[in-house]
Amino acid sequence: MQTKAQHISYNDNNEQIKYIKRVTDFFASSGKAPIANIHTFGCQQNENDTERIKGILKQMGFGFTSEDEEADFILFNTCAVREGAEDRVLGNLGALKHLKLRKPNVLIGICGCMMQQEHMVKRIKSKYRHVSIVFGTHTLFKLPQILFEAITRDKTVINVCDAHGDIIEDIPILRESSPKAWVSIMYGCNNFCSYCIVPYTRGRERSRKADDIIAEIKKLVAEGVTEVTLLGQNVNSYGKDLDENIDFAELLRRVNEIDGLKRIRFMTSHPKDMTDRLIDAMAECDKVCNQLHLPFQAGSNRILKLMNRRYTKEDYLALVGKIKAKMPDISLSSDVIVGFPNETKEDFLETIDVLEKVRFDTIFSFIYSKRSGTPAAIMEDSISDKEKHENFDRLLEVQNRISREINETYGGKTVEVLVEGPSKNNPEIYSGRTDTGKTVNFPFHDETKIGDYVNIKITKVNTWSLDGEII
Ligand code: SAH
Ligand code: SF4
Ligand code: F3S
Repeated sequence: MQTKAQHISYNDNNEQIKYIKRVTDFFASSGKAPIANIHTFGCQQNENDTERIKGILKQMGFGFTSEDEEADFILFNTCAVREGAEDRVLGNLGALKHLKLRKPNVLIGICGCMMQQEHMVKRIKSKYRHVSIVFGTHTLFKLPQILFEAITRDKTVINVCDAHGDIIEDIPILRESSPKAWVSIMYGCNNFCSYCIVPYTRGRERSRKADDIIAEIKKLVAEGVTEVTLLGQNVNSYGKDLDENIDFAELLRRVNEIDGLKRIRFMTSHPKDMTDRLIDAMAECDKVCNQLHLPFQAGSNRILKLMNRRYTKEDYLALVGKIKAKMPDISLSSDVIVGFPNETKEDFLETIDVLEKVRFDTIFSFIYSKRSGTPAAIMEDSISDKEKHENFDRLLEVQNRISREINETYGGKTVEVLVEGPSKNNPEIYSGRTDTGKTVNFPFHDETKIGDYVNIKITKVNTWSLDGEII
């Protein structure tokens, strides 16, 4: 039997407080405030971890840059979910060898999901000798100690633990100033989908106590946040491991009562754990957005079984029917994998059939990537890469048409948008999102502020976004 996760306060961890002081003193004696650059890969949970890493670094006097050349500490917070993500990290890390030769004092580190895999740690140790810091997802809170060891010792500091991890509350979080914030409500995953590395890199499901989550959101609201996204690999199983009697539906209702909060989003929901209680809570809570990310992964029952998803195509379609009956305008999105071992054309066409029947607003689609240590990695696969890519292209074609058709229904309508900031390519154009998660771009007005909720008339429809004007 697995023992329950301990809920520990970071501030009670005297061991780390000692190191915070030592690291601060070390850099203070050099007369220059240290600067860090963190490269983040992977999911929102990793983004949220980076915000924690930044919070801890700030405690030790660090400032931040987005340029490696300016940094004293360069850290890669990594994702292991697909080979492509890992290759990008290794490529970027390799390219820093020259920088380390020119600036021997620069500290280069790698952390996150990739480092929870023993073979990766070995590879870093043997081939990336310019790396001096390695830590995993469960030891993030030990960063003060890890950093202290790295600056005082002349060898690579490795601090990876494969225990399932405790919950460390009160880690300082340095978020970008924004009306939106990520809030992790649980960590880990118990589902062991046969293709997926996440249960191995993040450990077993551990839920934060509801009071801790509510307190964090209230604090965020006091700082000006009005939209939160509750994060977990499967938020629908929230609370199952807690002593208190609470489920995700109840948590949503409690978050919905927070004064000053306007929008609640959450991800990700596993279809097998989507209860009627949760559908009712979504429909009844006015702040919960009209949007749901509900990955189905594949349409063929044979493949779903091999994936260990524990529902059938029919179960999924019935669930969507139930959700749409309660929330007819809901915007649905999904994750889809193409090219699971031995996925035939017939299997693939079942996936297309789900797209046509559900009509998702968007999907995030991936070509299957073999992850060593997962059950699918040893499954036979006789399907060629060419066929997988053809299927993938077909999937995108079908989905692009559906996304465009759904966006067309917004033409001429007025929607409420939370103003998030200038668009990346044009500072005159601002962008924000509707309750249904659509990105809307609009010309900036002097009287508009980031964080405002404005009404926008949609004047142009694109496949991925909408254009409009404030009215
Ligand atoms: N816990 C979430 C998200 C997990 S990772 C969920 O269950 O929905 C995000 C997505 O990456 C998954 O939904 C899946 O579509 C994709 N993914 C995971 N492992 C993969 C693999 N080995 N190859 C390709 N895609 C993968
Ligand atoms: Fe991976 Fe499945 Fe867990 Fe999602 S639910 S993180 S796909 S094992
Ligand atoms: Fe990647 Fe880890 Fe998230 S493997 S998807 S960063 S949980």
